[in-house]
Amino acid sequence: MTETATLDVEASEPSELGYRSFRLGEFAFSRDEYFVSLTWPTGRHVMSADAFLRALQRDVAWDFFYGIINFDGVLGTVNHYGTVDMFAGRYNDAYRKAELDHVETFETPLIRETFKAMLADWTNEGFDPFASPEETGSAFGPKHGDNIDAITRRRVTAQRMVAVAGDEGLRTDDNGHPVNRQFADVPQDEPEIHAEEGFEDALASFNLFAYLSRSSVTWNPSVVSVCKDSLYCPTTEEYILPVIHGNDRVEWFVQLSDEIYWDVEDRDSGAKRAKVIMKAGDVASMPADIRHQGYAPKRSMLLVWENGSGKIPELISSGKLPSTAVQF
Ligand SMILES: [Fe+2]
Repeated sequence: MTETATLDVEASEPSELGYRSFRLGEFAFSRDEYFVSLTWPTGRHVMSADAFLRALQRDVAWDFFYGIINFDGVLGTVNHYGTVDMFAGRYNDAYRKAELDHVETFETPLIRETFKAMLADWTNEGFDPFASPEETGSAFGPKHGDNIDAITRRRVTAQRMVAVAGDEGLRTDDNGHPVNRQFADVPQDEPEIHAEEGFEDALASFNLFAYLSRSSVTWNPSVVSVCKDSLYCPTTEEYILPVIHGNDRVEWFVQLSDEIYWDVEDRDSGAKRAKVIMKAGDVASMPADIRHQGYAPKRSMLLVWENGSGKIPELISSGKLPSTAVQF
């Protein structure tokens, strides 16, 4: 990206273990064999390197996504769609009361490039932060190699729909998307189209279950169909969602297969609000004032339905729209 190519990412020379340290404003980041350490003027924090890299991978790949990406109960980012807040303790009642929280706002390209550089430097050969724990190696140890191909995967973002001519293509064995080990029973046949004469080019279809069964990544909503601001972002899930997503809009979940357990907390304080068990066929609407983290004991398919309108966060924060989809 030319606009960001000249941005100064603040990085040190490699440590004895081979890892660089990074600075972003008053935040300082470093890693050792097991942990990522973070300091800011009023505090410090430690995360396991694998959990940190899994969260960082999503924040980078989703370009800060909708609303808040909490790496855990302390650290995270808020997307203002042009700038991004990096915070420590801002959405944690205890840190707030002790006045240990810290927030800084950055132009998106600077935080994006710093995060990308950190992800590239700290991800070792053999560790894939997008993969399930069963399907990847270890994040730990002194620096050894890298895994640039895995961390720079292209995110699927259909302009209209997967399988439409000129848009995102189907996944096949031949283009590097074998059926996942836990979806071996998913039928792979594609729908047949019998178009009226003259309409052959106006119709497209695909088997969404077959498409998802060939996803190599977990917890990575990708856009498979678009109708104005209505985005279908299905994803396959296994183990734990590596971030706690804080919504800035209502988000719908349709559980397409298997089960996911959701912990739902107040977005701003972290207070527990609900536990939701979603089984195949269940539909949930996550309010705009919560944050959530999912647990999938077995690889499952989840349809995340987003409203991509840029007007929604302001309409909700100004009270013009409710934070729930339905009021009883
Ligand atoms: Fe979410």
